[in-house]
Amino acid sequence: MRILLVGGGGREHALALGLKADPEVTEIHCAPGNAGIAEIATLHDVDILDNGAVVALAQELDVDLVVIGPEAPLVNGVCDQLRAAGFATFGPSKAAAQLEGSKNFAKEVMHDAGVATAKSFTCENRMEIEKALDYFSPPYVVKDDGLAGGKGVVVTDDRQVALDHALSCKRVVIEEFLDGPEISLFGISDGKTILALEPAQDFKRALDGDQGPNTGGMGAYSPLPWAPSDIVEQTHREVLAPMIAEMAARGTPFIGLLYAGLSLTDHGIRVIEFNARFGDPETQVLIPRLKTPLASLLYKAATRNLEGEKIAWHPLSAVTVVLAAQGYPTDPKKYQLVAKLPTIADTFIFQAGGGRILSATGVGSDLTEARDRAYRAISQIEVEGSFYRTDIAFNASVAEKGN
Ligand code: AMP
Ligand code: GLY
Repeated sequence: MRILLVGGGGREHALALGLKADPEVTEIHCAPGNAGIAEIATLHDVDILDNGAVVALAQELDVDLVVIGPEAPLVNGVCDQLRAAGFATFGPSKAAAQLEGSKNFAKEVMHDAGVATAKSFTCENRMEIEKALDYFSPPYVVKDDGLAGGKGVVVTDDRQVALDHALSCKRVVIEEFLDGPEISLFGISDGKTILALEPAQDFKRALDGDQGPNTGGMGAYSPLPWAPSDIVEQTHREVLAPMIAEMAARGTPFIGLLYAGLSLTDHGIRVIEFNARFGDPETQVLIPRLKTPLASLLYKAATRNLEGEKIAWHPLSAVTVVLAAQGYPTDPKKYQLVAKLPTIADTFIFQAGGGRILSATGVGSDLTEARDRAYRAISQIEVEGSFYRTDIAFNASVAEKGN
């Protein structure tokens, strides 16, 4: 199988590694890729927001499967054009990607699918905004309706801050604060059938102890020893399957990866958000644990053939720690990556580029072992001004030891 992978972050580096491990795969191409992916795939310098250029590349390479990593090309409709040109494509159509592209659209679909989420109001003017803020008590949750690159959500006790953010958005969703641990749980869908992956937990704040600004994610781990044992089944039943059925009923089937960001509240599972793609850095802990060959799985999804499939996992734990550039996330500085990255057994370095320089994933028989390996690697990489959190998976590893 010849594959074209679109994207160039840590997530795509991990996906490339997973694809390469599948014996069916003969060639991997990546656009635009990065220095780490270059060791696995042939890179192509193509503008991934130019749909025509992506289709032309797929044609030139005559690939059997196209896998889209980031949200921007999805929302831009690249999958519609790839499918129209006859390519098996893993990624949702422009219409289905609106589950990530518009918070209001996601709320409407959840409502029609009977999926539990925070109560919310969508507002377009000051009067509606004030009314919604009056309805809820602090902390206020204010979300820009559109794609905002992780900067669209403000959670604050300060009404003025909430109001200012809401007024700065064209359309804004104001919603109930969900109190509970957050997890990420992904499903791979062929439009009719969706297979749930194991959950991961992401660390969104920049600094230790969940302090500092929101980021794209500073680290992750999987599995979650503290989560209810039926969390995967329950999320499949209550969230993933109803969403896929509703999208199909609307005539816009969701083919690709449905990312559910969930809050495990005292009243049950509540959806915080959907994304239309693999999470970053959650993918960096899921791929090393995945036993099912990745390329064949994504190909079955892309060709609407997932029914009856099962996903298998290695009985291993994985922890990933992100090394971020000075100033990330507000104003990341340019950096120089040392030529030689450490090679440590059972550890993977996934390169990114941008504010998140790379992440180190350690794999082990439990979270403590995986964590030690990830931190041993990350502490050996010196980039001036860069930083990382020291508490990724710490609480979970302590809790696991106590069991
Ligand atoms: P999002 O961009 O939707 O992932 O939101 C960013 C972060 O804001 C989430 O990971 C949560 O930590 C937080 N957040 C979003 N919505 C809520 C909510 N309704 N209640 C509590 N926290 C939230
Ligand atoms: N880790 C959060 C995201 O991928 O959106």
